[in-house]
Amino acid sequence: MSISPARAAAFDILLRVERTDAYATELLHSAQFSKLSAKDHGLATEIVMGVLRWRSVLDEQVAQYSSQKLEKLDPEVITALRIGTYQLGYLSRVPQSAAVNESVELVKQARKRSASSLVNAVLRRIAVDKPGEASSAVLRAHPSWLVSKWEGMFGREAAGKICAYDQTVPEVAIRVSGAAAHSELSDAGIKLAPGRILASANRVDAGEITNAAAFKAGRVFIQDEASQLVAMLVGKGKRVLDCCAAPGGKARIMAERNPTASIIALELHEHRARLLRKLVPAANVQVLTADAREFRPEDLFDRVLVDAPCSGTGTLARNPEIKWRLQPEDLSDLHTHQLDILQSAMKLTAPGGRVVYSTCSLEREENSDVVAEALEADRSFHLIESRAALEELAEDGELQWKDLDSLLDGLYLRTIPGVHPCDGFFAAILEKN
Ligand SMILES: C[S@@+](CC[C@H](N)C(=O)[O-])C[C@H]1O[C@@H](n2cnc3c(N)ncnc32)[C@H](O)[C@@H]1O
Repeated sequence: MSISPARAAAFDILLRVERTDAYATELLHSAQFSKLSAKDHGLATEIVMGVLRWRSVLDEQVAQYSSQKLEKLDPEVITALRIGTYQLGYLSRVPQSAAVNESVELVKQARKRSASSLVNAVLRRIAVDKPGEASSAVLRAHPSWLVSKWEGMFGREAAGKICAYDQTVPEVAIRVSGAAAHSELSDAGIKLAPGRILASANRVDAGEITNAAAFKAGRVFIQDEASQLVAMLVGKGKRVLDCCAAPGGKARIMAERNPTASIIALELHEHRARLLRKLVPAANVQVLTADAREFRPEDLFDRVLVDAPCSGTGTLARNPEIKWRLQPEDLSDLHTHQLDILQSAMKLTAPGGRVVYSTCSLEREENSDVVAEALEADRSFHLIESRAALEELAEDGELQWKDLDSLLDGLYLRTIPGVHPCDGFFAAILEKN
């Protein structure tokens, strides 16, 4: 029996996500899988992202019917079971026979023939019994330590909203350069809606933006609205430093808003620096492959962005694999790396200059704790109210979101997925005396 290209691709991608640190979205858009037909790519995407979003709930269902403990199953076997269970429970248009038989075949072709009867038996029982989703499913689709942490930080209601948002397919937010690109998109059948937070952002209402010529040519960029907003907080300067710049979403906006500034964009990894150069061709942006902790320029900067490497817990709707990889103890290593980068960046800031420190994490350890420790160690900096920067953006007609209070946590900017229609970002503005 043959396996459909969509299910074969989903199986391959999920195994790679399990065995390496690869991200599902990047694999789905890689050259190998972009070759799939639009229909197969769509189904592969639905299966991959659905399995990653609902993994623990799918495992509970498999465990009810499996004669073997899940920990004992080979990765190929549990992956085929998750793919089958997801289709049976969440994709009503997929015939049950295809969901069951192709998972059995995936296991056979992966040379795990001895497990094929178990996969067949478990999936047939699930197809008949149709174990329903409990009302707490969105919470149970997250590690319990993370949910408890969010309940403590944001309250139960907001934590529930975050979990519910993480289980949805988020809207695609974009930036479009120039009026010509707008009409190009409309001619290509892509329907756009206005941004929900920013006047210069758009949302894709219909059509596959990644297939559009304007996207392929770099006249349209996919970027969450919270990420766009953080780049705008950096404001205007003459010498601007972006410490952690790839793939370059924020650098591009800073270049757009500071056309005469000299901008240096640092990136630790060579391959990511190459991608950054390609995605941000602006003449006033100089890309350097360097460690921000060791960068020693001749002159100081008046605007610095530290968009630090982080856990990414504010982006779980987009990157659901993070919730299964992240361990509570990882937060302390991230904190140390983030603090090192921020403290190095502060040393490169001119008197009267500003550093914006941001992450796409919801965790206090990576956000306010980092900023508080850095300020404690260097008394020549103080915090600036993010409210003032947001009010300026509102006066300029850029910020459209009316409830400014909801975007603030004391002096900090903070977006919460599900409470706001975007990823969860944190930003602090530090000014040197
Ligand atoms: C959150 S991402 C930045 C996203 C980027 N600002 C944007 O808007 O597209 C963090 C980046 O920092 C890079 N990075 C990590 N440690 C670094 C360091 N010590 N110095 C410079 N870059 C670093 C990572 O490779 C990653 O590309």
